[in-house]
Amino acid sequence: MGNSHSSTYLASTTGALLVSGIVWHKLCTSPPQWIKELDALGQPRKKQKLVGTAVVCGGSIAGTVAARVLTDHFERVILVDPELEDTEKPKTRIMQYNAGHVLLSLFADGARRLWPNFDVELKAAGGRLACADYQLHYSGVSVPTPYWDYPDGCLPTTLAMRRSSAQKALYQLLMQHPAAARITVLPGTVRGVKASANKACLESVTVRKLDGEQMTVADVGLVVDCTGTTQAGIKWLGNAGFTLPHDLRSSYAPNIRYSTMCFSVSPELESRLPIPNSARNTLAPYLYSEHFDYGSKAAVLLHTDNHTVQLLMTSSEDNLPRSRPEIIPFLSMLRGHVPIPSWFLETVEMLCEHCPEPSYDNIRIPDQSYVKYHSLPSGTLPSNFIAIGDANLQLNPVHAQGFAKVMLNSITLNTILHSIGSDTLPLPRDFSTRYFKTNAARTQALWDATRLHDYGTSTCEPMAGETRDTGRLARWFELKLISAASKYADVASAVWHIRHLIAPDRALFAPMVLAKVLWTQSRF
Ligand SMILES: Cc1cc2nc3c(=O)[nH]c(=O)nc-3n(C[C@H](O)[C@H](O)[C@H](O)COP(=O)(O)OP(=O)(O)OC[C@H]3O[C@@H](n4cnc5c(N)ncnc54)[C@H](O)[C@@H]3O)c2cc1C
Ligand SMILES: *[C@@H]1O[C@H](CO)[C@@H](O)[C@H](O)[C@H]1NC(C)=O
Repeated sequence: MGNSHSSTYLASTTGALLVSGIVWHKLCTSPPQWIKELDALGQPRKKQKLVGTAVVCGGSIAGTVAARVLTDHFERVILVDPELEDTEKPKTRIMQYNAGHVLLSLFADGARRLWPNFDVELKAAGGRLACADYQLHYSGVSVPTPYWDYPDGCLPTTLAMRRSSAQKALYQLLMQHPAAARITVLPGTVRGVKASANKACLESVTVRKLDGEQMTVADVGLVVDCTGTTQAGIKWLGNAGFTLPHDLRSSYAPNIRYSTMCFSVSPELESRLPIPNSARNTLAPYLYSEHFDYGSKAAVLLHTDNHTVQLLMTSSEDNLPRSRPEIIPFLSMLRGHVPIPSWFLETVEMLCEHCPEPSYDNIRIPDQSYVKYHSLPSGTLPSNFIAIGDANLQLNPVHAQGFAKVMLNSITLNTILHSIGSDTLPLPRDFSTRYFKTNAARTQALWDATRLHDYGTSTCEPMAGETRDTGRLARWFELKLISAASKYADVASAVWHIRHLIAPDRALFAPMVLAKVLWTQSRF
């Protein structure tokens, strides 16, 4: 009897464990809320449009996406940027204007909702759609891309493009969309904002036009800071009488230099490059990123638009190549656990030998920073002020998250706007707080993961209140995670989906994934 008792006990415990294991697994692997919210992106509100003008300050990537979303909600959208007058002119305020940009999966997913002709127009602009695979090799160790999850043979597709080409194409999409009838482009610089007497909301925005004339945009419904690195909102709010804590903005210095070499490659030459077939239809045939103990050097070849291939390199020292003969010696300095493959070096040699002189661009990455608007007590910010893109959070660009982060912010904005009635103008008192808090919950992990990773490098200067020791546990976990991803399909799949912002971080805590990560010995 005792025997049957204990076997019943065992069976029911096993059953309970199994059920909770399944629930745990389901919880961790279900899609994040923002993926569910994609369905409403690009859908005009069914209720009456919100009255008042949405003023988008800054007309780069964040400004372009925000303006498109806001046309679904507001009667009138004004897009202000000093460099919008002539779209053919190279932008001078965007230091990464020559760098190739990888558009992560979430960006392409969102852009296709906002612009159903996204693929067609980006192809027409010279872009090439490819599998969302950039062949990441950490310290030389391959972190596989989960082609096996997509049995039709191709992963979701997206693009890598020269920033200049991507930016022009997106702006064109914006202005060709029927909703552009509601957009007024105002070439100029936003100089400040004015609050209502009780400081509950912003009433107007001051713009200096290109001819120097100041003008006031009144009847403001919403003000969106899309000023990128400038993060001008802090200054505007301070000047308008809002008291913001001096440590609202956190920043650290990764101390990285970044160089872009752009080769024009004929189709004939491209077909002769010794790139393995499995890496041809990708965003990047190869990416090498040094382990942080070795340094912060990285090298990647990108398949960019109009038959160009870009070689991007980073270093913490001023030793990036500036001419063809300096390239191979630089690449030979990359150190890691597995050497860079010989076909990669041969490919670069062939590009140097057979292409016209490449263009060079060498920049210093500015400090990474986070304006923590979400940390302010509710009621501090005017209800109708928000920030999107780098104006809110600026990440280390080596992970290529900038555009996808803009999309994530915009999905959040769209969802909140859909949830409010049309008779509630001015916007609800907690609108801004709701936006920043929801957004922070969705992007905090990006800031933590990239920052704590960077602290592993000896040249990185941490933010106030932290040391290079901060995040040791996170780095220990990360190295085991990469090691497990190099061995197990389900771990690699979780890593890839999280990197493209289409799975939540909790996917790492699914029982089998977590067990494998903890079980696997770090290779590094
Ligand atoms: C070297 C490098 C490589 C990168 N690679 C990638 C990548 O591969 N993939 C990726 O997704 N991201 C990448 N990023 C990040 C990406 O470039 C940024 O996240 C992106 O530019 C942010 O867009 P934004 O619109 O927020 O800001 P920005 O592009 O900086 O634009 C800000 C705009 O605001 C305007 N402005 C400023 N002040 C005012 C004012 N007072 N009034 C009106 N307008 C104003 C400026 O003229 C400008 O047009 C990279 C970044 C760097 C530095
Ligand atoms: C790229 O090619 C497209 C299509 O041929 C063309 O319209 C566009 O101007 C080209 N862009 C550049 C920067 O050369």
